[in-house]
Amino acid sequence: MCIRDSAPPGFTYDFHPARLDPESFPRALWRKCFLECLGESSSELSRYNDPQGDEGLRSAIRDYLERSRGVVCDPDQIVICGGLQQGLEMIAHLLRGNHAAVAVENPGYHLPRAVFRNNAFTVVPVAVGPCGLDLDMLKASGSTIVYVTPSHQLPMGVVMPVANRLKLIEWAGTGGNFIIEDDYDSELRYHGKPIPSLQGLRPEGNIVYMGTFSKILSPALRLSYLVLPPSLRAPYRHLFRDYFSTVSLLEQKTMRKFMEQGHWERHVRRMRIMYKHKHDTLLQLIAHHFGSTATVVGQGAGLHVVVRLAGERPDEAEIIRRAERQGINLFPFSAFSITGRSDSTYLLLGFGGMTAEALGEGVGLLSRLCR
Ligand SMILES: Cc1ncc(COP(=O)(O)O)c(C=O)c1O
Repeated sequence: MCIRDSAPPGFTYDFHPARLDPESFPRALWRKCFLECLGESSSELSRYNDPQGDEGLRSAIRDYLERSRGVVCDPDQIVICGGLQQGLEMIAHLLRGNHAAVAVENPGYHLPRAVFRNNAFTVVPVAVGPCGLDLDMLKASGSTIVYVTPSHQLPMGVVMPVANRLKLIEWAGTGGNFIIEDDYDSELRYHGKPIPSLQGLRPEGNIVYMGTFSKILSPALRLSYLVLPPSLRAPYRHLFRDYFSTVSLLEQKTMRKFMEQGHWERHVRRMRIMYKHKHDTLLQLIAHHFGSTATVVGQGAGLHVVVRLAGERPDEAEIIRRAERQGINLFPFSAFSITGRSDSTYLLLGFGGMTAEALGEGVGLLSRLCR
């Protein structure tokens, strides 16, 4: 199953982890920025433009990343992409001459596994513990590239502590190893201070930083970016010198305006408050309906929480079948595991697209069908 597939029609309660609040897209402001761009861009619309993406958008992203994530780079290192997949394809092309194996988090996001396999890499699973990726396993894995989600590990929700970040950076400093840092949920952290990005801790290191507008604005825009490390700037220019940008210039310019006029950071703040409210409501509902029969293992950021069920339970496939009959869409936790299996029964509960009312009803129904 794909994390992006749409729920078949007829579901009343959609716990898919990649859903945004349907009312949250800032239509009026986006329309205003889009129309302004349309009025201003006539010469650019009559030609091909910068293959790395609109320069003004790259500058706006640079400023934002510096303020919010401590990323240190110049706009020249940024490439505007049409989503994580396209960014990872580029990185795979850039690295495959000198690297054969890539380590991925297990459980972890399936997309990087697919992209690297399709590019003839060996994909090596590395376990995720209470501090994120197991660094001893990584060292023993023989991989020279690692893909990680340190801000909010998908799916376990672990935030990698600074001490481990520093050790991981040290690993990348030895023998030309590379880190791919996917900071996909960095804006949606509900408690505590944000931990600086790996890239910000070692800007000159072999760290490719990746971010997206999919979680705060819309996954339908297909707008994301990557920050190349200094070591990959020249190889990028050489390898992709004949390529064109695949991201619509109008969308890029609209995003630029949206950022330059301050709408983006205001929108991020609004979304953080709204999703924190949904997140906290969901935790209360889980405590109320499941009590001691469930433990929340991943929480505090992003658009989903992970719940481990205790005691004698139907297995995941049975829970999903029962849920479907009650109008509930559940994304299988096991899809994140490289073997398709997991040691315990987990529920992955996305809350982004649900109203408080639907969350209340849905969690109540779920607690009954998990018995
Ligand atoms: C781990 C992870 N990274 C990144 C993304 C965003 O990808 P994209 O920019 O292609 O929408 C997602 C979306 O679900 C994700 O789960």
